[in-house]
Amino acid sequence: MRLAQLASPRVAPSILAADFASLGSQVDELLDAGARVIHIDVMDGHFVPPITMGPLVVSALRERTKASGALLDVHMMITEPERQIDEFVRAGADVITVHAEATPHLNYVLAEIRAAGLAAGLAVCPSTPLAVYSELAAAIDLALCMSVNPGWGGQPFIEASIGKLERLAPLLAADVAIEVDGGIALGTAERCRAAGARLFVAGSAVLGSKDPAAAYVALADAVGDPRR
Ligand code: DX5
Ligand code: ZN
Repeated sequence: MRLAQLASPRVAPSILAADFASLGSQVDELLDAGARVIHIDVMDGHFVPPITMGPLVVSALRERTKASGALLDVHMMITEPERQIDEFVRAGADVITVHAEATPHLNYVLAEIRAAGLAAGLAVCPSTPLAVYSELAAAIDLALCMSVNPGWGGQPFIEASIGKLERLAPLLAADVAIEVDGGIALGTAERCRAAGARLFVAGSAVLGSKDPAAAYVALADAVGDPRR
């Protein structure tokens, strides 16, 4: 386990669902409630249609997360992520996850992320077979199973993701964190946990709710996130 915070189950609030005019204070509120992984969705308008955030947002949050030791978990939904790793390392990312569908040079980009001292994650879209994990099992610290098609928050959880998570766990070393992203709320989170997930990305269920801190706490308690 490259990062101690990933040794426990964690809810990772996704700031994609934040009120961007109040991003700093919303993140502070979640850190105060015990969140120790903040998920940042980077989209380029090419790998997925929307354009979202880049390294400026990562560096803006870096100072705020330092005191608590919270991780900045960067989910790159961009083509050729190998061209952007340096920027995100400089910005202060702790985890960088790239998509299996986004480059033919996965071995190279995962090694580049680790060489910079970060945890390296490999994500797959719902339609991508898990075989890629067998080829790269030794090169990753985290495996991200998308449970919606990437690009937008607020989509319904794809049920087939439960079976996919169950088939994923045996392909990985025990210390690889299994992350699930998309449609995670009370109910789906517990079922993903039973299927092997340990890191639960939640956008609309946390920052889209009226009381994000309370929503984080309820979800955290449901999956066994220690909230510190
Ligand atoms: C979607 C992003 C997710 C998104 C999840 O492509 O990767 O992280 O924020 O949003 P919810 O939790 O609303 O499904
Ligand atoms: Zn994401």
